[in-house]
Amino acid sequence: MLIDTYGRVATDLRVSLTDRCNLRCTYCMPEEGLQWLARQDLLTDDEIVRLVRIAVTRLGITEVRFTGGEPLLRPGLVSIVERCAALAEGPRLSLTTNGIGLARTAGALAAAGLDRVNVSLDTLRPDVFRRLTRRKRHQDVLDGLAAARAAGLAPVKVNTVLMPGLNDDEAPDLLAWAIENGYELRFIEQMPLDAQHGWRREEMITAGDILASLRTRFALTPEEGRGSAPAERWLVDGGPARVGVIASVTRPFCSACDRTRLTADGQVRSCLFATEETDLRGALRSDADDEEIARRWRRAMWGKKAGSGLDDPAFLQPRRPMSAIGG
Ligand code: GTP
Ligand code: 5AD
Ligand code: SF4
Repeated sequence: MLIDTYGRVATDLRVSLTDRCNLRCTYCMPEEGLQWLARQDLLTDDEIVRLVRIAVTRLGITEVRFTGGEPLLRPGLVSIVERCAALAEGPRLSLTTNGIGLARTAGALAAAGLDRVNVSLDTLRPDVFRRLTRRKRHQDVLDGLAAARAAGLAPVKVNTVLMPGLNDDEAPDLLAWAIENGYELRFIEQMPLDAQHGWRREEMITAGDILASLRTRFALTPEEGRGSAPAERWLVDGGPARVGVIASVTRPFCSACDRTRLTADGQVRSCLFATEETDLRGALRSDADDEEIARRWRRAMWGKKAGSGLDDPAFLQPRRPMSAIGG
């Protein structure tokens, strides 16, 4: 079991498969990209599957999410999914992606045992997409979403970050579109995890702003039973359609957190905002046995902090940006 000193138990593992990405979202990374991890520092497919196996068989992990960077850029993704799905305890498997290339791989991923996907899409307008991501790939994302739905990767969730002056007028349109297409839309408050350190709390679109904007067109009623999910959900016009808001900044949910993270270079992070990491790659490569690796992982989680520290005046952004941590 992965328990911390506050009594929280991590059952949800987020595995970053690469720090690279084929988009350049302005709230994430600069146009020129970042200094990518060296190939020899990345976990191999075998190492990833072994760590997932240890997490599932010895540490009580029941949900595994693959993230990045952009996880579809990882050549071995389908095989990693297949091997994780074949593990004795059969964890639930999901993927968080920008959707580019998903049109080609959704069927294979579903066949390999992936249960569901979350796809990032911030706008319905191709020109805004281009300004926001600095790439002309809007249609690829829409095609990816449709392919995921057709492949039965349900529910298909859409993640949207609203940016002032760019797409903050689109919330009701995005919700109408998501409902029409059978996707579950969630709005995410922008967090200080961008590589450029450009986040300003006073400029961020808050959950309050988002809900006010949605209520100009829809009736929203809060849904009970959130559990440990980051998203608070509302029924739209009485349901069954829903909308979620992930308000990491203005309504933090750290006290219910059930997550542990593995970076693409094999470091355990007890929190998105952790300032310390625990090296498992070194252990793997120096022939540590499964129990030794599990012990290091337990120790890493025991040191998990109470929360993100965002409200602390001395808050320091983690050294790694979101794309290198694994959202
Ligand atoms: P499901 O609801 O289970 O599908 O997953 P999710 O919403 O946790 O996952 P997803 O990868 O779609 O992430 C949505 C947003 O939540 C992203 O912006 C993540 O960075 C953010 N997020 C994920 N985990 C955490 C966390 O532990 N803390 C905070 N503050 N945000 C998180
Ligand atoms: N704050 C909030 N969400 C972010 N994402 C990327 N960077 C940030 C940030 N700084 C979102 C992506 C994707 C999800 C994994 O995280 O848009 O939907
Ligand atoms: Fe890529 Fe995601 Fe960062 Fe956009 S937010 S540049 S899709 S890693």
